[in-house]
Amino acid sequence: MKIHVFANEEELHEAAAQTIVRLLRRKPDAVLGLATGGTPVGIYAKLAAAFRRGEVSFARATTFNLDEYVGLPPDHPESYRSYMERHLFRHIDLPQERAHIPDGNAADLERECERYERLLQEAGRIDLMLLGLGHNGHIGFNEPGRQLHSRTHVAVLHPKTREANARFFRSPEEVPARAVTMGLGGIFKAVTILLVVKGADKADIVHRALTGPLTTECPASLLQLHPDLVVMLDEGAAARFGRPAPGEAQPVNGLR
Ligand code: F6R
Repeated sequence: MKIHVFANEEELHEAAAQTIVRLLRRKPDAVLGLATGGTPVGIYAKLAAAFRRGEVSFARATTFNLDEYVGLPPDHPESYRSYMERHLFRHIDLPQERAHIPDGNAADLERECERYERLLQEAGRIDLMLLGLGHNGHIGFNEPGRQLHSRTHVAVLHPKTREANARFFRSPEEVPARAVTMGLGGIFKAVTILLVVKGADKADIVHRALTGPLTTECPASLLQLHPDLVVMLDEGAAARFGRPAPGEAQPVNGLR
């Protein structure tokens, strides 16, 4: 595990975006796993800017989003399809047919999960999986509980998740109760996982996830097992990892 701490959001977003840019320059047909929510917005803005500057092309890339709400029309502003169009897809040259997002409106959700799982299998391994972290330790919508799922499945959102996501909706009741999400098996198959966490309100959970016991009660704790986990934190999220002594250089690599 490598942990990088950044003094400000700008640098964090740029570093995360450049990780993706470097991958695509090395491997133009890379498969990317993508997250939504507040965390990646600035990263996607940096990726769009890198594309505009001609530094990167997504023309041969394939993307898989982690999740989609159940029951929100695709053109609803808070569907993850709309989010991805707004923040990334409409600004880059990724072919639409290779931008995969689960269909949260499928008549048969079980079949939709199977379809998504099959697409993931056919794509082989995700080269880089971008993850955010929920306040309760969820990744994707793999919520804490007594058991976790390996495959794409329909998840019931934890009350805390609905509460956290209410900020994107007009009222908390509008937050869908369920989502289709990639399972932990799909996430863990990624060659590299890039976990990005921002804000002092996530300092405890990211510390617990990365240093605490492995438990289904904190799905992100399993990330400790991944052979190539890269973590990018801002100062707020890194607070529990201890402060460097006065005069000591800010560590950018490894646990401090
Ligand atoms: C989003 C997702 C979620 C978010 C997490 C953090 O596709 O799968 O796991 O990454 O809820 O959300 P934010 O970034 O809004 O704090």
